[in-house]
Amino acid sequence: MYRVGRLFFVMDDNMRMFNTVAALAIPFIPHALVRKISRRYIAGESLDRAIERVQQLNALGFSATLDVLGETVSSLDEAEIMASEYIKVLDAIRVHRLNAEISIKPSALGLLVDEAACERLVKRILNAASLDENFACIDMEDVSCTQKEIDLFARLESNHDNVGLALQAYLKRTYEDIGQLPHVRSTVRICKGIYMENPVHLVGLAREDRAAINPHFINHVSRCFKAGAFVGIATHDTALVNEIVSLVDREEVDRRKFEFQMLLGVCEPLRDRLLGMGFNVRIYVPYGKDWYGYSTRRIKENPSIAGHVIKAMFDR
Ligand code: FDA
Repeated sequence: MYRVGRLFFVMDDNMRMFNTVAALAIPFIPHALVRKISRRYIAGESLDRAIERVQQLNALGFSATLDVLGETVSSLDEAEIMASEYIKVLDAIRVHRLNAEISIKPSALGLLVDEAACERLVKRILNAASLDENFACIDMEDVSCTQKEIDLFARLESNHDNVGLALQAYLKRTYEDIGQLPHVRSTVRICKGIYMENPVHLVGLAREDRAAINPHFINHVSRCFKAGAFVGIATHDTALVNEIVSLVDREEVDRRKFEFQMLLGVCEPLRDRLLGMGFNVRIYVPYGKDWYGYSTRRIKENPSIAGHVIKAMFDR
Protein backbone atom coordinates (compact mmCIF):
# COMPACT_ATOMS: atom_id res chain seq x y z
CA MET A 1 0.00 0.00 0.00
CA TYR A 2 1.30 3.47 -0.93
CA ARG A 3 -0.15 6.75 0.30
CA VAL A 4 -0.14 10.02 -1.62
CA GLY A 5 -1.93 12.79 0.23
CA ARG A 6 -5.37 11.35 0.89
CA LEU A 7 -5.10 8.66 -1.75
CA PHE A 8 -3.93 5.10 -1.18
CA PHE A 9 -2.44 2.92 -3.92
CA VAL A 10 -1.78 -0.78 -3.98
CA MET A 11 1.75 -1.43 -5.35
CA ASP A 12 2.27 -2.99 -8.79
CA ASP A 13 -0.60 -2.39 -11.24
CA ASN A 14 -2.14 0.57 -9.45
CA MET A 15 1.29 1.99 -8.72
CA ARG A 16 2.29 1.67 -12.35
CA MET A 17 -0.91 3.39 -13.40
CA PHE A 18 -0.28 6.14 -10.88
CA ASN A 19 3.26 6.63 -12.16
CA THR A 20 2.02 6.83 -15.74
CA VAL A 21 -0.60 9.40 -14.81
CA ALA A 22 2.07 11.26 -12.86
CA ALA A 23 4.30 11.29 -15.95
CA LEU A 24 1.45 12.89 -17.92
CA ALA A 25 1.17 15.55 -15.24
CA ILE A 26 4.79 16.68 -15.72
CA PRO A 27 3.93 19.91 -17.59
CA PHE A 28 2.09 21.02 -14.46
CA ILE A 29 4.97 20.33 -12.06
CA PRO A 30 6.53 23.59 -10.84
CA HIS A 31 9.80 24.44 -12.61
CA ALA A 32 11.57 24.77 -9.25
CA LEU A 33 10.83 21.14 -8.46
CA VAL A 34 11.94 19.94 -11.90
CA ARG A 35 15.12 21.94 -11.38
CA LYS A 36 15.75 20.14 -8.10
CA ILE A 37 15.28 16.76 -9.74
CA SER A 38 17.43 17.80 -12.69
CA ARG A 39 20.51 17.94 -10.42
CA ARG A 40 20.61 14.18 -10.67
CA TYR A 41 20.76 14.18 -14.47
CA ILE A 42 22.61 17.38 -15.28
CA ALA A 43 26.10 18.43 -14.17
CA GLY A 44 25.00 22.05 -13.74
CA GLU A 45 24.41 25.17 -15.78
CA SER A 46 28.07 26.05 -16.31
CA LEU A 47 31.09 24.40 -17.94
CA ASP A 48 32.94 24.64 -14.60
CA ARG A 49 30.34 22.42 -12.93
CA ALA A 50 30.56 19.97 -15.81
CA ILE A 51 34.36 19.81 -15.49
CA GLU A 52 34.05 19.04 -11.78
CA ARG A 53 31.55 16.26 -12.47
CA VAL A 54 33.76 14.71 -15.15
CA GLN A 55 36.76 14.88 -12.81
CA GLN A 56 34.74 12.94 -10.21
CA LEU A 57 33.69 10.35 -12.77
CA ASN A 58 37.24 10.01 -14.12
CA ALA A 59 38.55 9.47 -10.59
CA LEU A 60 36.11 6.55 -10.27
CA GLY A 61 37.31 5.05 -13.55
CA PHE A 62 34.56 6.22 -15.94
CA SER A 63 35.20 8.12 -19.13
CA ALA A 64 32.67 10.80 -20.15
CA THR A 65 31.04 12.45 -23.11
CA LEU A 66 30.06 16.08 -22.61
CA ASP A 67 26.83 17.41 -24.05
CA VAL A 68 25.89 21.09 -24.15
CA LEU A 69 22.13 21.16 -23.57
CA GLY A 70 20.05 22.65 -26.34
CA GLU A 71 18.15 21.43 -29.35
CA THR A 72 16.80 22.86 -32.60
CA VAL A 73 17.95 26.42 -33.15
CA SER A 74 16.08 28.80 -35.43
CA SER A 75 19.00 30.94 -36.54
CA LEU A 76 22.63 30.52 -37.54
CA ASP A 77 23.65 33.01 -34.85
CA GLU A 78 22.40 30.57 -32.21
CA ALA A 79 24.19 27.74 -34.00
CA GLU A 80 27.46 29.74 -33.94
CA ILE A 81 27.07 30.27 -30.19
CA MET A 82 26.62 26.52 -29.70
CA ALA A 83 29.69 25.73 -31.82
CA SER A 84 31.78 28.22 -29.83
CA GLU A 85 30.65 26.60 -26.59
CA TYR A 86 31.80 23.20 -27.87
CA ILE A 87 35.21 24.66 -28.74
CA LYS A 88 35.42 25.88 -25.13
CA VAL A 89 34.50 22.39 -23.95
CA LEU A 90 37.32 20.90 -26.03
CA ASP A 91 39.76 23.46 -24.61
CA ALA A 92 38.63 22.58 -21.08
CA ILE A 93 39.09 18.86 -21.74
CA ARG A 94 42.67 19.56 -22.84
CA VAL A 95 43.52 22.00 -20.05
CA HIS A 96 42.09 19.78 -17.30
CA ARG A 97 43.34 16.57 -18.93
CA LEU A 98 39.88 15.02 -18.73
CA ASN A 99 39.11 11.57 -20.04
CA ALA A 100 36.20 12.91 -22.07
CA GLU A 101 34.91 13.46 -25.57
CA ILE A 102 31.84 15.37 -26.81
CA SER A 103 28.35 14.60 -28.10
CA ILE A 104 26.73 17.05 -30.51
CA LYS A 105 23.19 17.57 -31.79
CA PRO A 106 23.18 18.82 -35.40
CA SER A 107 19.80 20.52 -34.92
CA ALA A 108 21.47 22.71 -32.29
CA LEU A 109 24.14 23.53 -34.90
CA GLY A 110 21.62 24.66 -37.52
CA LEU A 111 20.83 21.43 -39.38
CA LEU A 112 17.21 22.45 -39.97
CA VAL A 113 18.12 26.05 -40.85
CA ASP A 114 20.97 25.58 -43.33
CA GLU A 115 22.55 22.16 -43.83
CA ALA A 116 25.74 23.47 -45.44
CA ALA A 117 26.32 25.97 -42.65
CA CYS A 118 25.70 23.24 -40.08
CA GLU A 119 28.27 21.04 -41.78
CA ARG A 120 30.83 23.88 -41.66
CA LEU A 121 30.24 24.27 -37.93
CA VAL A 122 30.55 20.53 -37.27
CA LYS A 123 33.80 20.51 -39.28
CA ARG A 124 35.09 23.41 -37.19
CA ILE A 125 34.36 21.39 -34.05
CA LEU A 126 35.94 18.23 -35.46
CA ASN A 127 39.06 20.13 -36.54
CA ALA A 128 39.40 21.61 -33.05
CA ALA A 129 38.89 18.15 -31.56
CA SER A 130 41.48 16.57 -33.81
CA LEU A 131 44.21 18.92 -32.49
CA ASP A 132 44.02 16.98 -29.20
CA GLU A 133 43.07 13.66 -30.80
CA ASN A 134 39.59 14.10 -29.38
CA PHE A 135 36.33 12.81 -30.76
CA ALA A 136 32.70 13.85 -31.31
CA CYS A 137 29.66 11.62 -31.53
CA ILE A 138 26.64 12.88 -33.46
CA ASP A 139 23.53 12.21 -31.37
CA MET A 140 20.61 10.88 -33.41
CA GLU A 141 17.52 13.08 -33.18
CA ASP A 142 13.91 12.58 -34.32
CA VAL A 143 12.92 11.18 -37.73
CA SER A 144 12.86 14.61 -39.34
CA CYS A 145 16.65 14.57 -38.87
CA THR A 146 17.53 10.89 -39.40
CA GLN A 147 18.47 10.93 -43.08
CA LYS A 148 20.11 14.35 -42.85
CA GLU A 149 22.28 13.20 -39.94
CA ILE A 150 23.27 9.95 -41.64
CA ASP A 151 24.21 11.88 -44.78
CA LEU A 152 26.13 14.43 -42.73
CA PHE A 153 28.03 11.66 -40.94
CA ALA A 154 28.84 9.87 -44.20
CA ARG A 155 30.25 13.08 -45.73
CA LEU A 156 32.25 13.94 -42.61
CA GLU A 157 33.58 10.45 -42.06
CA SER A 158 35.33 10.43 -45.42
CA ASN A 159 37.68 13.20 -44.19
CA HIS A 160 37.57 12.91 -40.40
CA ASP A 161 38.39 9.84 -38.37
CA ASN A 162 37.19 11.44 -35.12
CA VAL A 163 33.44 11.40 -35.67
CA GLY A 164 30.83 8.82 -34.69
CA LEU A 165 27.07 8.45 -35.06
CA ALA A 166 24.27 7.28 -32.77
CA LEU A 167 21.68 4.91 -34.26
CA GLN A 168 18.30 4.04 -32.75
CA ALA A 169 17.24 0.41 -32.43
CA TYR A 170 13.54 1.39 -32.21
CA LEU A 171 13.52 2.48 -35.86
CA LYS A 172 12.75 -0.13 -38.55
CA ARG A 173 15.06 1.65 -40.97
CA THR A 174 18.15 1.12 -38.80
CA TYR A 175 18.69 -2.36 -40.34
CA GLU A 176 19.22 -0.76 -43.72
CA ASP A 177 21.12 2.21 -42.34
CA ILE A 178 23.66 -0.02 -40.62
CA GLY A 179 24.13 -1.92 -43.86
CA GLN A 180 25.33 1.33 -45.46
CA LEU A 181 27.51 2.50 -42.61
CA PRO A 182 29.88 0.47 -40.52
CA HIS A 183 33.25 -0.54 -41.75
CA VAL A 184 36.56 -0.62 -39.99
CA ARG A 185 36.72 3.12 -39.35
CA SER A 186 33.18 3.68 -38.12
CA THR A 187 32.32 4.41 -34.53
CA VAL A 188 28.65 3.93 -33.76
CA ARG A 189 26.52 4.24 -30.66
CA ILE A 190 23.53 1.93 -30.51
CA CYS A 191 20.69 3.18 -28.28
CA LYS A 192 16.98 2.32 -28.10
CA GLY A 193 15.79 5.81 -29.11
CA ILE A 194 14.12 8.49 -27.06
CA TYR A 195 11.72 10.48 -29.24
CA MET A 196 7.94 10.06 -29.46
CA GLU A 197 7.75 8.83 -33.05
CA ASN A 198 4.82 7.75 -35.16
CA PRO A 199 4.51 3.94 -34.66
CA VAL A 200 4.84 3.36 -38.43
CA HIS A 201 8.56 4.02 -38.03
CA LEU A 202 9.01 1.70 -35.06
CA VAL A 203 9.98 -1.96 -34.72
CA GLY A 204 7.54 -2.77 -31.89
CA LEU A 205 3.78 -2.65 -32.07
CA ALA A 206 3.33 -0.85 -28.76
CA ARG A 207 5.36 2.30 -28.18
CA GLU A 208 5.51 1.56 -24.43
CA ASP A 209 6.98 -1.94 -24.85
CA ARG A 210 10.65 -1.04 -24.57
CA ALA A 211 11.74 -4.67 -24.11
CA ALA A 212 10.45 -5.42 -27.64
CA ILE A 213 13.34 -3.34 -28.97
CA ASN A 214 15.97 -5.60 -27.34
CA PRO A 215 16.37 -8.30 -30.05
CA HIS A 216 16.83 -5.54 -32.64
CA PHE A 217 19.37 -3.78 -30.41
CA ILE A 218 21.40 -6.98 -30.03
CA ASN A 219 21.21 -7.69 -33.73
CA HIS A 220 22.59 -4.22 -34.53
CA VAL A 221 25.39 -4.48 -31.98
CA SER A 222 26.37 -7.90 -33.31
CA ARG A 223 26.40 -6.68 -36.92
CA CYS A 224 28.51 -3.68 -36.02
CA PHE A 225 31.02 -5.92 -34.23
CA LYS A 226 31.23 -8.15 -37.30
CA ALA A 227 31.78 -5.10 -39.52
CA GLY A 228 34.72 -4.07 -37.33
CA ALA A 229 33.14 -0.88 -35.99
CA PHE A 230 33.81 0.47 -32.53
CA VAL A 231 30.47 0.18 -30.72
CA GLY A 232 29.09 2.32 -27.91
CA ILE A 233 26.40 0.24 -26.20
CA ALA A 234 24.09 2.88 -24.71
CA THR A 235 21.49 1.35 -22.43
CA HIS A 236 20.45 0.95 -18.77
CA ASP A 237 18.32 -2.11 -19.43
CA THR A 238 19.76 -4.84 -17.18
CA ALA A 239 18.39 -7.72 -19.26
CA LEU A 240 19.86 -6.20 -22.40
CA VAL A 241 23.20 -5.53 -20.75
CA ASN A 242 23.34 -9.15 -19.54
CA GLU A 243 22.68 -10.41 -23.06
CA ILE A 244 25.39 -8.17 -24.48
CA VAL A 245 27.85 -9.36 -21.85
CA SER A 246 27.09 -12.97 -22.88
CA LEU A 247 27.51 -12.01 -26.54
CA VAL A 248 30.91 -10.39 -26.08
CA ASP A 249 32.12 -13.31 -23.95
CA ARG A 250 30.81 -15.91 -26.40
CA GLU A 251 32.26 -14.18 -29.45
CA GLU A 252 35.42 -13.10 -27.63
CA VAL A 253 34.98 -9.51 -28.74
CA ASP A 254 38.06 -7.41 -28.01
CA ARG A 255 37.19 -5.07 -25.12
CA ARG A 256 38.97 -2.23 -26.91
CA LYS A 257 36.29 -2.45 -29.64
CA PHE A 258 33.31 -1.44 -27.49
CA GLU A 259 32.21 0.36 -24.36
CA PHE A 260 29.02 0.62 -22.32
CA GLN A 261 27.50 4.07 -22.14
CA MET A 262 25.01 5.44 -19.63
CA LEU A 263 23.39 8.74 -18.80
CA LEU A 264 24.50 10.71 -15.77
CA GLY A 265 22.38 9.84 -12.73
CA VAL A 266 20.64 6.82 -14.26
CA CYS A 267 20.98 3.24 -12.95
CA GLU A 268 24.26 3.88 -11.14
CA PRO A 269 24.54 0.37 -9.58
CA LEU A 270 24.50 -1.14 -13.08
CA ARG A 271 27.26 1.14 -14.35
CA ASP A 272 29.34 0.37 -11.22
CA ARG A 273 28.85 -3.35 -11.79
CA LEU A 274 30.05 -3.11 -15.40
CA LEU A 275 33.08 -1.09 -14.38
CA GLY A 276 33.81 -3.67 -11.67
CA MET A 277 33.71 -6.38 -14.36
CA GLY A 278 36.51 -4.58 -16.17
CA PHE A 279 34.43 -3.10 -19.01
CA ASN A 280 34.95 0.41 -20.30
CA VAL A 281 32.02 2.61 -19.26
CA ARG A 282 31.37 6.11 -20.56
CA ILE A 283 28.95 8.49 -18.86
CA TYR A 284 26.96 11.03 -20.87
CA VAL A 285 27.25 14.31 -18.95
CA PRO A 286 24.89 17.09 -20.04
CA TYR A 287 25.24 20.65 -18.78
CA GLY A 288 23.84 24.04 -19.67
CA LYS A 289 20.97 26.39 -19.16
CA ASP A 290 18.47 24.37 -21.19
CA TRP A 291 17.86 21.93 -18.34
CA TYR A 292 14.06 21.88 -18.37
CA GLY A 293 13.42 19.92 -21.59
CA TYR A 294 16.17 17.41 -20.88
CA SER A 295 14.96 16.76 -17.32
CA THR A 296 11.33 16.29 -18.25
CA ARG A 297 12.35 13.76 -20.95
CA ARG A 298 14.31 11.82 -18.31
CA ILE A 299 11.34 11.89 -15.93
CA LYS A 300 8.97 10.69 -18.65
CA GLU A 301 11.32 7.81 -19.43
CA ASN A 302 11.10 6.60 -15.88
CA PRO A 303 7.55 7.18 -14.67
CA SER A 304 8.43 6.02 -11.17
CA ILE A 305 10.43 9.25 -10.81
CA ALA A 306 7.33 11.21 -11.80
CA GLY A 307 5.43 9.26 -9.13
CA HIS A 308 7.95 10.31 -6.50
CA VAL A 309 7.74 13.91 -7.67
CA ILE A 310 3.97 14.03 -7.35
CA LYS A 311 4.24 12.33 -3.97
CA ALA A 312 6.78 14.94 -2.87
CA MET A 313 4.40 17.70 -3.95
CA PHE A 314 1.54 16.27 -1.92
CA ASP A 315 3.75 15.56 1.07
CA ARG A 316 5.12 19.10 1.24
P1 FDA B 1 14.66 1.31 -21.19
O1 FDA B 1 14.00 2.56 -21.62
O2 FDA B 1 13.98 0.03 -21.44
O3 FDA B 1 15.03 1.45 -19.66
C1 FDA B 1 15.71 0.37 -18.99
C2 FDA B 1 15.71 0.63 -17.52
O4 FDA B 1 16.41 1.83 -17.23
C3 FDA B 1 14.30 0.77 -16.96
O5 FDA B 1 14.23 0.03 -15.77
C4 FDA B 1 14.17 2.23 -16.69
O6 FDA B 1 13.39 2.49 -15.58
C5 FDA B 1 15.60 2.66 -16.44
N1 FDA B 1 15.71 4.02 -16.89
C6 FDA B 1 15.67 4.46 -18.15
N2 FDA B 1 15.75 5.81 -18.16
C7 FDA B 1 15.81 6.18 -16.84
C8 FDA B 1 15.88 7.42 -16.18
N3 FDA B 1 15.85 8.56 -16.85
N4 FDA B 1 15.96 7.42 -14.84
C9 FDA B 1 15.98 6.28 -14.14
N5 FDA B 1 15.89 5.09 -14.72
C10 FDA B 1 15.81 5.04 -16.06
N6 FDA B 1 18.52 8.47 -27.66
C11 FDA B 1 18.38 8.97 -28.91
O7 FDA B 1 17.29 8.95 -29.48
N7 FDA B 1 19.47 9.53 -29.55
C12 FDA B 1 20.71 9.55 -28.99
O8 FDA B 1 21.65 10.04 -29.61
C13 FDA B 1 20.86 9.02 -27.67
N8 FDA B 1 22.06 9.04 -27.06
C14 FDA B 1 22.21 8.37 -25.86
C15 FDA B 1 23.47 8.27 -25.28
C16 FDA B 1 23.64 7.54 -24.11
C17 FDA B 1 25.02 7.41 -23.51
C18 FDA B 1 22.52 6.88 -23.52
C19 FDA B 1 22.68 6.03 -22.30
C20 FDA B 1 21.28 7.02 -24.07
C21 FDA B 1 21.09 7.77 -25.22
N9 FDA B 1 19.83 7.93 -25.78
C22 FDA B 1 19.72 8.48 -27.03
C23 FDA B 1 18.62 7.57 -25.01
C24 FDA B 1 18.21 6.14 -25.33
O9 FDA B 1 17.75 6.06 -26.65
C25 FDA B 1 17.09 5.67 -24.39
O10 FDA B 1 15.98 6.49 -24.53
C26 FDA B 1 17.50 5.64 -22.94
O11 FDA B 1 18.80 5.15 -22.80
C27 FDA B 1 16.55 4.68 -22.15
O12 FDA B 1 16.55 3.42 -22.77
P2 FDA B 1 17.25 2.14 -22.14
O13 FDA B 1 18.03 1.48 -23.21
O14 FDA B 1 18.00 2.49 -20.94
O15 FDA B 1 16.08 1.14 -21.85
